[in-house]
Amino acid sequence: MRIFSGIQPTGRKHLGNYIGAIVQYVASQYRGEGIFCIVDLHAITVPYSPAELRERCYDTAALLIAAGLEPARCTLFRQSDVPEHTELTWLLSTVTELGRLQRMHQFRDKSLAQRELVSAALLCYPVLQAADVLAYRAHEVPVGEDQREHLELMRDVARRFNARFGDGEEVLVVPEHRIPDVGARIMDLQDPTTKMSTTAASEQGTVFVLDGPQAIERKLKSAVTDSGTEVRRAPEKPGIGNLIEILAAVRDAPPEQIESEYADAGYGAFKAAVAGAVIEYLAPVRERYDELRGDESQLEQILQGGAAQASAIAAETLADVRERMGVGAPRRARTLP
Ligand code: TYM
Repeated sequence: MRIFSGIQPTGRKHLGNYIGAIVQYVASQYRGEGIFCIVDLHAITVPYSPAELRERCYDTAALLIAAGLEPARCTLFRQSDVPEHTELTWLLSTVTELGRLQRMHQFRDKSLAQRELVSAALLCYPVLQAADVLAYRAHEVPVGEDQREHLELMRDVARRFNARFGDGEEVLVVPEHRIPDVGARIMDLQDPTTKMSTTAASEQGTVFVLDGPQAIERKLKSAVTDSGTEVRRAPEKPGIGNLIEILAAVRDAPPEQIESEYADAGYGAFKAAVAGAVIEYLAPVRERYDELRGDESQLEQILQGGAAQASAIAAETLADVRERMGVGAPRRARTLP
């Protein structure tokens, strides 16, 4: 079973990324062949700093390794090092419906947030994401809930490609998403009706993976809750529901267990318990990150090694896709010595 996922090298990674996605990446190394991509080409679809982009890629690589990705057990690479992703994006754009791209939630939200240029790249973002996964014929894609729409689009693109060019064969694998039962959508601590993100109005609502114990404690203790006292999930209690979900994910326990354990504890004691658990959960990651981040040449070597492994797989898919689409020299002619 081949498992693929991608993560942006923008901003600082937060508890939502960690619980919703990174924990699953680590687990998938033991279930199959894991391929993980730092998607720098996605990061440039909105305004960014060229001077910082490489640094952010190293930050993200160090964080993923600190979280438990083992370069000997999986493939970890930087998207732009494998040019097949961009070529496949172009080829797949011929079987992608324009109207669908224009209606994607992320495109609508991000394009509204742009002050100056809404780039064509922002519109094509989901096609590049489809290419990321389809280039590896991955079976499974671990992601958080916010990526569901992107996954549905990539499944449709694969199906349309196969129908148009496959001659009855599944040339591209139609991937399944893997969205966790608990922690698929961690919410902002200050506004529990919006998801936790790097672009939140205030940092108070976002716990970063590399936050120190004091910052984590401050943010969790000042998390917005309702005026009740009972620790249980309910539509009118999104703040408490979010904290229950966080503690359940961190302790790898069902949310019901957290509810029965803390039902009458009171919000203050409950928040303190969540803060303590999150501090303990993230501390080893922060320590390992500090050890790894200093050695950029080692990180670069890991990414280069990963790119070589990834390229070998993606090149094979691309050769098939080109062949099926009648693009370029025929396959046999190209492989002549
Ligand atoms: P990105 O970098 O925004 O997020 C990385 C992963 O974190 C998950 N996530 C969350 N999970 C739970 N709660 C939250 N509040 C939360 N916020 C983010 C995301 O669902 C994601 O799994 N477009 C993708 C990157 C990408 C990709 C791919 C993913 C590019 N190519 C191919 C899968 C397959 C993105 O921006 O993720």
